[in-house]
Amino acid sequence: MNTALITGASRGLGRALARELARDGWRLVVDARDAAALSAAARDIGGDVTAVTGDVTDPAHRADLVRAVDGGLDLLVNNASTLGPTPMHRLAALPVTDLADTFATNVLAPLALIQNVLPSLRYRRGAILNITSDAAVENYETWGGYGTSKAALDQLSNVLAAEEPDVAVWWADPGEMNTDMLRASGEDADAAPPPEVAAAALHHLVIDRPPSGRYRAADLAESR
Ligand SMILES: NC(=O)c1ccc[n+]([C@@H]2O[C@H](COP(=O)([O-])OP(=O)(O)OC[C@H]3O[C@@H](n4cnc5c(N)ncnc54)[C@H](OP(=O)(O)O)[C@@H]3O)[C@@H](O)[C@H]2O)c1
Repeated sequence: MNTALITGASRGLGRALARELARDGWRLVVDARDAAALSAAARDIGGDVTAVTGDVTDPAHRADLVRAVDGGLDLLVNNASTLGPTPMHRLAALPVTDLADTFATNVLAPLALIQNVLPSLRYRRGAILNITSDAAVENYETWGGYGTSKAALDQLSNVLAAEEPDVAVWWADPGEMNTDMLRASGEDADAAPPPEVAAAALHHLVIDRPPSGRYRAADLAESR
C-alpha cells in the first residue's frame, strides 16, 4: 500500500488532496495544529488516515510524523503554510522577526521534513510535492514576505531535484482557491474556485509521475 504524508490537511488544499489519495487507496498521515478540526477532517477524508496534531515548525512534532509513517513513505506533500501577519505588510513595514517566522513554516519546516524522510523516499523511489504560489514569481504589493518564502521553497525544490535523481521533486502552484488562507489575505476568496479543483489537477502528478520540475495546477488541468 502506498503511503503519503500531507501537512496542513484539516481544510483547504491539503484536505482535498488527501481525499483524492484516499479514494485511490493510499494510507495517509496528516497534520494540522487544531486537533478538533484535524480529527473532523480525518473522518471526512476516510480510509486509512493517521491524524497527528502539531505544528510543522516543532521538531518534536516532525519526529511524531516520521514515527507515524513507520513502514516507509512514497509521497511527502509540504502543503502547510502561513501568509505571515495579516493584514499583510508592505516590505518597508514588515517586521523581520515576522518574516523569520514565515520562513520557519514555509521553508525550514518543509526542508527538515524532507531531510527526515529522504532515505525512505529514495529507497521507494517516491516523490515530494512542495506547494508554492504565483506570489513566488510575481511582484504583488504586500505579498513580499510570503512571496519570498515561496521563492525560497521553489529554489530549494529546484536544487533538491538535481541532487536526488531517485526521487521525483515537484513544486506546484495551485492557483487561487476559495480557502481560509486567501480570505485572510483580503482577496475575494468567494470568486476563486474551490480547492478540490486544484487538488484534482495536482493528483495527475501522482498518477502520471512527470519529471521533477515546477508545475501549475491550471496547466495540468488543461493538458488532460
Ligand atoms: N488559497 C490560495 O489561493 C493559494 C494560492 C497559492 C498557493 N497556496 C498554497 O496552497 C497551500 C494550501 O493553502 P490553503 O489555501 O489550502 O490554506 P488553508 O485553507 O489556510 O489551510 C492550511 C492548512 O495548513 C494547516 N497549517 C497551517 N500552519 C500550520 C503549521 N504551522 N503546522 C501544521 N499545519 C499548519 C492548517 O491547519 P491549522 O491552522 O489548524 O494548523 C490547515 O489545515 C499553501 O501552501 C498555500 O501557500 C494557496
